Parts: sequence; structure tokens; C-alpha cells
Amino acid sequence: MFKSMFLKLAIVGILSLLVPAVLYAAGKHEGLNCTGCHGIHTAQGDIIFAVEPNRKVKNPRTNKPYTGVTALCLGCHETIENGGMGIIPVSASKSHPYGVVPNPKVANVPPSFLRSGELACVGCHDPHPSNPNYKYLRVDTEGGADMQKFCVVCHSSKADVEVTKIEVFSSMDERNASHESPLVEKPAKKSKSKKKKR
Ligand code: HEC
Ligand code: HEC
Ligand code: HEC
Ligand code: HEC
Repeated sequence: MFKSMFLKLAIVGILSLLVPAVLYAAGKHEGLNCTGCHGIHTAQGDIIFAVEPNRKVKNPRTNKPYTGVTALCLGCHETIENGGMGIIPVSASKSHPYGVVPNPKVANVPPSFLRSGELACVGCHDPHPSNPNYKYLRVDTEGGADMQKFCVVCHSSKADVEVTKIEVFSSMDERNASHESPLVEKPAKKSKSKKKKR
């Protein structure tokens, strides 16, 4: 128990060395610099994740550890005692449900929001730094002032919002990227030593 806690603390220590200090100051995923979440050649989980999935904290609905992307988010966003890193911990027992197969009477979740049939963290958040929305939510809630616009996606009978058109942010299809490729080819510079004629 103490050993594993020590290990986690050591991991947090290592992470904070790898990840620039600006991360904690900026308070956003930008500071994770892609490689804070994706271990390019040193992956610990699916989608080449840099952080080990949280196998400790249990889903109150199933009494089993979380799986998939949810377990990856919880590798950071749970308390250290519950197998995370204590970074803005999200408590399973006091939270909106996640890691659940939706009961259609309670929520009408668009299929593209589900992962393996479950509502994962990414059903509500798109965690990529390109997401401009408040708290990385998938819908623009005007800085949290218009939260109904987000809840209505799955709970439309509850919300007083005209559901004619709600834009959903997704970073998960490169074919939809809003910008052209910024690629510019740069020729190699001639090295000085080669220029000199001996
Ligand atoms: C490598 C660790 C790490 C992982 C993995 C991670 N996060 Fe974060 N997250 C952070 C850090 C660091 C912050 C900023 C902490 C602070 O402000 O103190 C943060 C902040 C956030 C915030 C708050 C953003 C804001 O604007 O206030 C949300 C929402 C969030 N994360 C969601 C997620 C979701 C969803 C996942 C999984 C897809 C995830 N995170 C995975 C480290 C992580
Ligand atoms: C907070 C953690 C986090 C950060 C930071 C992050 N990613 Fe991701 N990335 C994820 C998660 C979680 C998924 C899976 C999302 C899903 O299933 O909707 C993902 C998916 C991806 C995928 C798609 C994989 C597939 O199977 O289609 C690519 C590519 C990717 N990320 C690249 C990047 C790049 C490039 C950056 C930096 C600009 C970055 N990521 C930063 C968490 C992160
Ligand atoms: C049903 C949608 C939903 C799901 C599922 C969900 N979140 Fe959130 N999350 C939200 C909303 C909405 C907020 C903003 C709440 C507010 O501002 O009052 C938020 C806020 C956050 C924050 C910031 C909290 C703070 O104090 O700033 C973090 C971190 C976070 N979520 C991580 C996660 C992680 C990790 C998961 C999965 C384990 C997850 N969320 C699942 C909707 C969701
Ligand atoms: C992406 C879909 C989605 C969004 C967006 C969403 N929810 Fe949910 N919500 C669900 C699912 C799935 C459940 C669990 C249904 C079940 O019991 O199987 C749920 C359950 C709930 C419950 C019942 C909780 C319980 O313990 O029984 C409440 C209350 C709730 N949501 C409120 C909200 C609010 C408020 C928002 C906006 C801030 C929101 N939801 C946004 C999908 C969503």
C-alpha cells in the first residue's frame, strides 16, 4: 500500500520533471505538450498513452475498475490513494456517472459520443489542446454560462433549449481539420565547412 503510494508519488515527480513547469501554471492540457499524454515510444496503455490506466478505483455501478479511455483520464484525475495523480481529482461516488452503458430512459446519447458502448470521459470532454471550449467540453457553453446547451445533447427533455443546431467540437477526424496543412519545405543549409575551398 505504502509502496504503491510511494511509486505514484515518484511518477508524479518524474512527470513534473518531464512536463514543463508551465503546465501547472497554465492549468490546461497545453502544458502536457502531446507527449505528457501520448508516450511516443514508451507507451503504458492504449492510444500510446503515457500514463498507466487507473486500475485501482472502482466504478460504483459495476464494482470493477474502469476501462478504456476513462481509466486513462483517471490515471491523472483521481486522488493518489485511488490510483491517480491527484490532479483535479474527479470522485466517482460524487460525480455525474461515467463508464456506464446509458439507460435510454435517462439519457439519449449520440452513438459517436460512446466508447465501447459506454459514456466515457470523452463523451463529454474532448481533451485535445485544440478544443477552445470551457473545461474542454464538447459544446461551447460560453464559458460555463450556458450549460444547458451542453446537457441538452443527451437530456433534451429536461432542457429549455431549442435543439435546432448545436455544434459539437471533435478533434478525432483529421479530414475535418479547419486549417490547411502548415507544411513548408525547408532546404538544408549548406554547412560553412563545405563552402570553404581549400
Ligand atoms: C498526464 C495527466 C493528465 C491526463 C492523462 C489527463 N489530464 Fe486533464 N488535466 C491535467 C492537468 C495537469 C490539468 C490542469 C491542472 C490544473 O489546472 O491544476 C488538467 C485539466 C483538465 C481539465 C480542466 C480544464 C480547465 O480548463 O480548467 C479537464 C476538463 C480535464 N483535464 C479533463 C481530462 C480528460 C477528460 C482526460 C482524459 C481524456 C484528461 N483530462 C487526462 C492532466 C491530465
Ligand atoms: C490530456 C491528454 C491528451 C493530450 C494532452 C493529448 N491527447 Fe491525443 N488523445 C487523448 C485521448 C484520451 C484520445 C482518445 C480520444 C477519444 O477516444 O475520443 C486521444 C487520441 C489521439 C489521436 C487519435 C488516435 C486514434 O486512434 O484515432 C491522435 C492522433 C492524438 N491523440 C494526437 C495528439 C496530439 C498530436 C497531441 C498534442 C497536440 C495530443 N494528442 C494531446 C489524450 C490526449
Ligand atoms: C456528463 C458529462 C461529463 C462526463 C461524463 C465527465 N465530465 Fe468532466 N466535466 C463536465 C462538466 C459539465 C464540467 C464543468 C463543471 C462546472 O464547471 O461546473 C466538467 C469538469 C471537469 C473537470 C474540471 C473540474 C474543475 O474543478 O475545474 C475535470 C478535471 C473533469 N471534468 C474531468 C473528467 C474526467 C476525468 C472524466 C471521466 C472520468 C469526466 N470529467 C467525465 C462534464 C462531464
Ligand atoms: C454525452 C451525454 C451526456 C451529457 C452531455 C450529459 N449527460 Fe447526464 N447522463 C448521461 C448518462 C449516460 C447518464 C447515466 C444514465 C444511466 O443511468 O444509465 C446520465 C445521468 C445523469 C443524471 C442522473 C444521475 C444518477 O446518479 O442517476 C443526472 C442528474 C444528469 N445526468 C445530469 C446532467 C447534467 C446536468 C448535464 C449537463 C451539465 C448532463 N447530465 C450532461 C449522459 C449525459
